[in-house]
Amino acid sequence: MQHQSSPKLQVSGLQAYYLTERGSLKAVDGINFEIQQGQSLGVVGESACGKSTLGAALMRSLQYPGKIVGGNVVLTGIQLTKLADSRFNSEVRWKKIAMVFQGAMNALDPVFTVESQLREILKQHGYQGDIRSKIAESLKAVGLDESVSKRYPHELSGGMKQRVVIAMALLMEPQVLIADEPTTALDVLVQSQIIALLKKLQIEKGISVILITHDLALVAQVAEVISIMYAGQLVEIGSAKEIYKNPKHPYTQALIAAVPKLRSEDKKINFIPGAPPSLIDPKEGCRFYPRCPHAMESCRKDPPEFKTETGYVRCWLYQESQT
Ligand SMILES: Nc1ncnc2c1ncn2[C@@H]1O[C@H](COP(=O)(O)OP(=O)(O)OP(=O)(O)O)[C@@H](O)[C@H]1O
Ligand SMILES: [Mg+2]
Repeated sequence: MQHQSSPKLQVSGLQAYYLTERGSLKAVDGINFEIQQGQSLGVVGESACGKSTLGAALMRSLQYPGKIVGGNVVLTGIQLTKLADSRFNSEVRWKKIAMVFQGAMNALDPVFTVESQLREILKQHGYQGDIRSKIAESLKAVGLDESVSKRYPHELSGGMKQRVVIAMALLMEPQVLIADEPTTALDVLVQSQIIALLKKLQIEKGISVILITHDLALVAQVAEVISIMYAGQLVEIGSAKEIYKNPKHPYTQALIAAVPKLRSEDKKINFIPGAPPSLIDPKEGCRFYPRCPHAMESCRKDPPEFKTETGYVRCWLYQESQT
């Protein structure tokens, strides 16, 4: 077992840009975090803030014209950023780190059964064991009956399809699983079943889960650590408890205020006025500054990460607490 003090995944200064004709779109721009063995991290933020790009960058599966332009990723002591593509492909992707891509459940091949799709992945990775029992075992691990293997995607419910794509990602027994919006388009009951499954995999198999979602209420059910992403950067990271009870960044505060409180009388959904900045030409300084109710002169300068009890916050309001 990995000792708690040596993190499973360490990401520092990660930058992934889309080199478009209009200029570099800085979708991931200086991301720092680490997760421990069996720990779960939530990545939360509004649409287009770079969540999927962050996941794809960790998997080295960025879509054209995406490129990792800076930073370091270390997985159990291996410097991934220094590995050649061929080694990353054969030794790391799917084997050490795997991802359930956004919308993957709708991208299952309609003309092949679940079994043949799982079989294909095992073959591609040169799996040496008994393929049939491996498929049965993987389906069981995600709460599906073995008989599901004979079915075609159109014969599965949304929840079953999502379980199949999770089984696919887990086939090569990765240590880190990135799940990108795994519950979008599923009804509320199925959503919590999928979340419970991710939690179970984390606890029983010791997998570190990175859960990407725009749903702050959902992420609280699975992640011990929550990071808040805004315009390509993490503005705050900390224990789930801390983030909910005592959110520090004005953006985190606004996000939490925007979660509709179903049980309360106040059904009004608060939203944050204004829009995120352009990622092609973000102005210097805090990227939330133009929308921030606490904006001040110093916000024109890029805020560094100020330490908090369980993580950090990138906001000049917390400058004093560090001195
Ligand atoms: N292939 C691409 N080429 C150019 N720009 C892209 C590409 N893919 C994503 N982007 C841009 O990168 C930014 C971040 O996109 P990304 O998909 O990572 O956001 P997201 O936080 O996952 O959003 P959502 O919650 O809607 O899934 C957006 O401005 C998006 O338009
Ligand atoms: Mg996305």
